[in-house]
Amino acid sequence: MKTLIRNGSVVTPQGVHMMDVLVEGETIAALFAPGPTSDDLAGSVVRVIDAQGKYVIPGGIDAHTHMELPFGGTFASDTFETGTRAAAWGGTTTIIDFAVQRYGERVQDGLAAWHEKASGNCFIDYGFHQIIGGVDDDSLKAMDELIDEGVTSFKLFMAYPGVFYSDDGQILRAMQQAKNNGSMIMMHAENGIAIDVLVAQALARGETAPINHGLTRPWETEQEATHRAIMLARITGAPLYIVHMSAKQAVHTVQEARDLGLNVFGETCPQYLYLSLEEQLGAPGFEGAKWVCSTPLRAKAEGHQDELWRYLRTNDLSIVATDHCPFCFKEQKELGIGDFSKIPNGIGSVEHRMDLIYQGVVEGQLTLERWVEITSTTPARMFGLYPQKGAIAPGSDADIVVYDPNGHTSIGIDKTHHMNMDHSAWEGYETDGHVDLVMSRGEVLVDEKGFHGTKGHGRYLKRSLSQYLI
Ligand code: URP
Ligand code: ZN
Ligand code: ZN
Repeated sequence: MKTLIRNGSVVTPQGVHMMDVLVEGETIAALFAPGPTSDDLAGSVVRVIDAQGKYVIPGGIDAHTHMELPFGGTFASDTFETGTRAAAWGGTTTIIDFAVQRYGERVQDGLAAWHEKASGNCFIDYGFHQIIGGVDDDSLKAMDELIDEGVTSFKLFMAYPGVFYSDDGQILRAMQQAKNNGSMIMMHAENGIAIDVLVAQALARGETAPINHGLTRPWETEQEATHRAIMLARITGAPLYIVHMSAKQAVHTVQEARDLGLNVFGETCPQYLYLSLEEQLGAPGFEGAKWVCSTPLRAKAEGHQDELWRYLRTNDLSIVATDHCPFCFKEQKELGIGDFSKIPNGIGSVEHRMDLIYQGVVEGQLTLERWVEITSTTPARMFGLYPQKGAIAPGSDADIVVYDPNGHTSIGIDKTHHMNMDHSAWEGYETDGHVDLVMSRGEVLVDEKGFHGTKGHGRYLKRSLSQYLI
């Protein structure tokens, strides 16, 4: 099957070029300037897609999702089926989800459970990071084994004591293992021990509303943990990727480490660029529960959001992922009525990341090239998928999005909403630009006629080591 995408502007981190793209089977066969070659080919291919006036970009890679994550006595509400369908609608053609090892469980069993959930259910390709919920001799050994299975990054938590938490000694040991086997340590950097004291004190004072989730996780708890994680990484020589960063001070600490030449990387998410403690988490009544996530939304008055955009420009933040972890309001977020600490942590955004970050281009925060870099190419390089993913180049998978800069997207539960949630954290957001067509390994999943994806089309991706560590 041959497809020709004609007359579009191909956007990659290297630039924007008028190019036609020939797809053969599952991969990109050739790129060439529009003209006679294209005219000749157009007669022989099975399908011609006209991308005149549109951008042709590599499919989005969301490097941080949590389908069906067990959390706070419930489960994230998207399955691999519903979550990958929603991702495809929004121009994301690869996710990297987090397999979970809980304390007392074998790491290999946690990974097997995630394969079970995902296998045969995904509309787009997927890989796994592994959460290490209990660092001990067995789990450290398992890290080496998992690398052979294509799981080359491991998340540790400095928060959630009693659930996923690792102490500094455990973190140090896991980092030593990563240094030796070439893998990446991903860190949830919040001082969970201090936070739990602040939470207990707030509840004792009768401060139970959702905004207290943010007030009991002040930026100092994020910056302190970020600094400590960097120091531990420095002792061991391990690379470090800090997930879901929201405090400008914490990113400043990442910047200082990077300026010293350390292999430290920062990730942020759309919610930290647009939403705030005052407006969303502080919404009246229990409404703010929709935006309870960790790290928390930060105060606009303190200027975090603008600083995070700036750090995306300077590459001190390298990636925008979603940390997609959706919960319904009814019966899930509602578990925390009367006690904010019982609200399941997470926001659903997998469907909207490409549009929301493109809006940053429209508003002058990012260049077009940087949009593609932080949403697709860098995630591919960071997590061992490049150039199979994250590129528009001969030999790469034909994961392609045709994006209309003159289109418009209205986000809301009755509009563009395919995530398995009863509300949208992005209700009422209007963005310039529109995902017109989405292709995954040569198969059109989304076009102007609607959704054509096939459950089970999505394949497991055995990832290599990060390219940034070589
Ligand atoms: O609130 C969040 N971030 N929920 C998902 C779990 C995690 O820590 O990434
Ligand atoms: Zn986390
Ligand atoms: Zn997460």
